[in-house]
Amino acid sequence: MSALAQNTRQELTDLEVNADLLDAYKGHVPRHIAIIMDGNGRWAQSRGMKRIKGHHQGAHSVRHVVEACRYLGVETLTLYAFSEQNWGRPQDEVSGLMTLFDIYIKRERKRLIKNNVGLKVIGDLERLSPKLRKSIAELEEATAKGAKMTLQVAVSYGGREEILLVTREIAKLVEQGKLKPDDITEELFNSMLFTASQPELDLMIRTSGELRISNFLLWQVAYAEIFVTDTLWPDFDETSLLEALTSYSQRERRFGKTGDQLKSGEN
Ligand code: FPP
Repeated sequence: MSALAQNTRQELTDLEVNADLLDAYKGHVPRHIAIIMDGNGRWAQSRGMKRIKGHHQGAHSVRHVVEACRYLGVETLTLYAFSEQNWGRPQDEVSGLMTLFDIYIKRERKRLIKNNVGLKVIGDLERLSPKLRKSIAELEEATAKGAKMTLQVAVSYGGREEILLVTREIAKLVEQGKLKPDDITEELFNSMLFTASQPELDLMIRTSGELRISNFLLWQVAYAEIFVTDTLWPDFDETSLLEALTSYSQRERRFGKTGDQLKSGEN
């Protein structure tokens, strides 16, 4: 068992995780994982249920995966819960999802605080109801102190929209004479994204077998490893997470260099 896992095990006694299974994992733990939680609708429809039931079941997977990541020592977990484009879904599904987010915020409050998980919701929050925005802001504040892991939930989020937002901000600063075009660096751009204070994205997981990024973290995904599983999100559990982490551990992350350069330790 790693020293980190040993500490975490002593510290966290009430997690809904299979600790023995997680302790057996010997590979690298990514600092930042993002997940496209896909397949809720299909999970429900294949059981003759309404799609919203699949989203509710998906919220249970969220708890498991959040707690497993917290246990393993992941620093940031970013979940794609609702895209900018999802506003175009049938009205009853959209309102059902908004209600579910509200339920999640109330239901998970105690566990997030107890387990030192800081919640941060990213996206165009102006489109959410004032009531939901208020609940989010309150929980963000309540969980901010001493957070050992950040749970970023992307709601009303689009990667292109995020890039456009930053671009407009930069254009305004240039127009006001506060910035010169040459000052526009990768670091500056990074510092203006929703994910500014988080580690670089290491691993993006997508469930339900689709081979797409679907407008998620387009800037941040640049050098991330990608793992796609056929498992539908409501069935995703610690075993599925460890499958993704094992695959991640076996990758050689080259960041544009050659394998030989990496072996010789060249920077
Ligand atoms: C995509 O599956 C999933 C969504 C659009 C919603 C994701 C939301 C949850 C997992 C609910 C809980 C989340 C939080 C953070 C509380 P889909 O509906 O597109 O599935 P399909 O491709 O099978 O139709």
